[in-house]
Amino acid sequence: MNYIQYEQKDLIGVLTIDRPKALNALNSEVLAELDQALNEIPMDETRCLIITGAGEKAFVAGADIGEMSGLTKAEGRAFGEKGNAVFRKIETFPIPVVAAVNGFALGGGCELSLSCDIRIASENAVFAQPEAGLGITPGFGGTQRLARTIGVGKAKEMLYTCGKVKAAEALALGLVNAVYPADQLMEEALKLAGKIARNAPIAVRACKKAVNEGLQVDIDSAVAIESEQFGGCFETEDQKNAMTAFCEKRKPDPFVNK
Ligand code: CAA
Repeated sequence: MNYIQYEQKDLIGVLTIDRPKALNALNSEVLAELDQALNEIPMDETRCLIITGAGEKAFVAGADIGEMSGLTKAEGRAFGEKGNAVFRKIETFPIPVVAAVNGFALGGGCELSLSCDIRIASENAVFAQPEAGLGITPGFGGTQRLARTIGVGKAKEMLYTCGKVKAAEALALGLVNAVYPADQLMEEALKLAGKIARNAPIAVRACKKAVNEGLQVDIDSAVAIESEQFGGCFETEDQKNAMTAFCEKRKPDPFVNK
């Protein structure tokens, strides 16, 4: 692949968007490679995925403005659908996805981070949805996930003003869970992913599914989704191992994803 690097670090996958000349901006080729890279992640060996950007300046500086500049209405819609399909794949990816936001996360970059389960950022990270200043709306889920993540009022302020949100403010808004010095970001992302990877994979995946799907429906349907996921964890090797160990006052054996 030209624009995506993938590294397997034990049970953690690290996917890097690598187009530094354009601050990792997402053109059609990057989106297609991202989609392919997600399809190829070895799911049996991977318990958490980290997504980051190459270089020290940008996570992703948005969708590629050069590519978008001459699009027709129909082509614009198709480009949006392409990005939305890939980001929805990330949002519904069976394992947790952590965005390690290492600089500019603008437009499609902010939207990419929002499709991940958890965002952590470097001190030099900057978030914004600058699209209205470019004569368009966000096209890769920003109007939807930003409001769901930081609330309608603040999301609308970001969308209407195109204002930049620095790391400290992003933390205060709940847009990111934590902020670290740039040189510690990847170490912290791996630590977080490691904590996730230590828990029973079937249970972690079920938590993700229950939260994601439950948020789309009324509370009665939502708790029914939880019951389904909860029930599905029983009779698994990992559940028996962990509960037996607790009852016997010892540590469980490492989880086996069965
Ligand atoms: N698309 C295409 N190229 C981009 C890009 C983008 N989104 N962002 C940066 N680049 C390119 C620049 O054109 C420049 O290329 P050249 O060296 O060939 O001129 C290179 O990356 C470096 O960028 P700058 O020289 O501009 O670097 P800077 O440090 O002066 O500024 C920046 C950095 C503030 C991030 C600035 O590049 C910028 O404002 N980028 C655009 C950000 C933006 O508006 N993103 C939203 C895009 S719209 C979108 O994403 C729609 C959607 O929802 C799908």
